[in-house]
Amino acid sequence: MTSPAPLSIAPDTAPESAPVLAMHNIRHAYGHHLAVEDVGLEVRQGEVVCLLGPSGCGKTTLLRIVAGLEVLQQGRVELDGVTIGRPGQAHVPPEKRNVGLAFQDSALFPHLSVLQNVGFGLEALPGRERRKRALELLDQLGMARYAESYPHMLSGGQQQRVALARALAPAPQLMLLDEPFSSLDARLRDRIRDDTLHVLKRVGAGALLVTHDPEEAMFMADRIALMRDGHIVQLGTPRELYCAPVDPFVVSFFGEVNELEGEVRQGRVATPVGEAPAPGLADGQRARVMIRPEALRVVALEEPPADHHSHVIMAKLLGRTSLLHICAHAGDGRELHLHARVPGVFLPDEGQPITVRLDTSQVFVFPAAAGA
Ligand SMILES: Nc1ncnc2c1ncn2[C@@H]1O[C@H](COP(=O)(O)OP(=O)(O)OP(=O)(O)O)[C@@H](O)[C@H]1O
Ligand SMILES: [Mg+2]
Repeated sequence: MTSPAPLSIAPDTAPESAPVLAMHNIRHAYGHHLAVEDVGLEVRQGEVVCLLGPSGCGKTTLLRIVAGLEVLQQGRVELDGVTIGRPGQAHVPPEKRNVGLAFQDSALFPHLSVLQNVGFGLEALPGRERRKRALELLDQLGMARYAESYPHMLSGGQQQRVALARALAPAPQLMLLDEPFSSLDARLRDRIRDDTLHVLKRVGAGALLVTHDPEEAMFMADRIALMRDGHIVQLGTPRELYCAPVDPFVVSFFGEVNELEGEVRQGRVATPVGEAPAPGLADGQRARVMIRPEALRVVALEEPPADHHSHVIMAKLLGRTSLLHICAHAGDGRELHLHARVPGVFLPDEGQPITVRLDTSQVFVFPAAAGA
């Protein structure tokens, strides 16, 4: 979905642009509970970096450390090239860091109107300009007509949008966003996400955005840091994480996969639906084969072949794609239940004979014992 008035988008982040945020070797524990360890991450000017990962992996903790809401225990934090956090150094409080915060529970000031809330961080501007700037942001987030309302008159999602506008208004060098779209319904979320992305790119702010939703991360991010148990597992562009995942956790985090096992023979693993390359694996090694549903190319056969053949068990329309439950026949007589995802409407009958081929770019092979 696009915003009503298209905004110009700054050109792609120049890779050599200076980092607005640099974290080095961050470690953080709550009592005996280690929440984050050995984290290093940079956000460059104009770049959106997403912290992605399951619940409890340490995303919010990292954001709170950067914001100054947690006192740094180990490591170093630099904003705009200046070290603002180092153990033993005086703690720089949140309001002294030039960062915009939009957190899941960002509270608005209840006694201020929406417009006053958004104008709050703009006291440096003269009254007229402050109002103009606040209204501009409210408009971009579809909230201009609530300018004179008070927070208690707004729904949760509307409050979240005002909090977002308030955080963006002073055009900080760095925005920290913790699940900022979580209380919006799916349709509104798409729109506000889109608007936010355009506002961020137009302002040219660096942003560190927390989400546990891989699609949201791919939509928003120039780079994604996928976390597990307090560590960054893989850091790279959405394409790198999706198309060149470093381990099974990364593959499965981006969606359901079919899992098979096999043995490596001359750099390849044979599966009932075709061979997959097994780069870096030794001959004879047991391999874990992860096949994305979209890797299975299904073709309906007019005439069932005389011998064993694969067939459709069930087909469901999911909207943009169709999900096929298929029974794949291996040469050795084994049968496998696999899920295939096909673009558009493709709903063959139960029992439909098919052939299945593999798009190996969406198949990932790891040593059998690797990963969770
Ligand atoms: N104030 C706290 N005291 C003790 N433990 C905490 C505290 N805050 C977080 N933790 C623990 O630290 C770990 C990381 O928490 P964090 O809030 O950073 O996770 P998260 O990735 O943001 O998760 P979610 O997606 O659920 O928001 C969790 O195991 C959590 O229980
Ligand atoms: Mg969190």
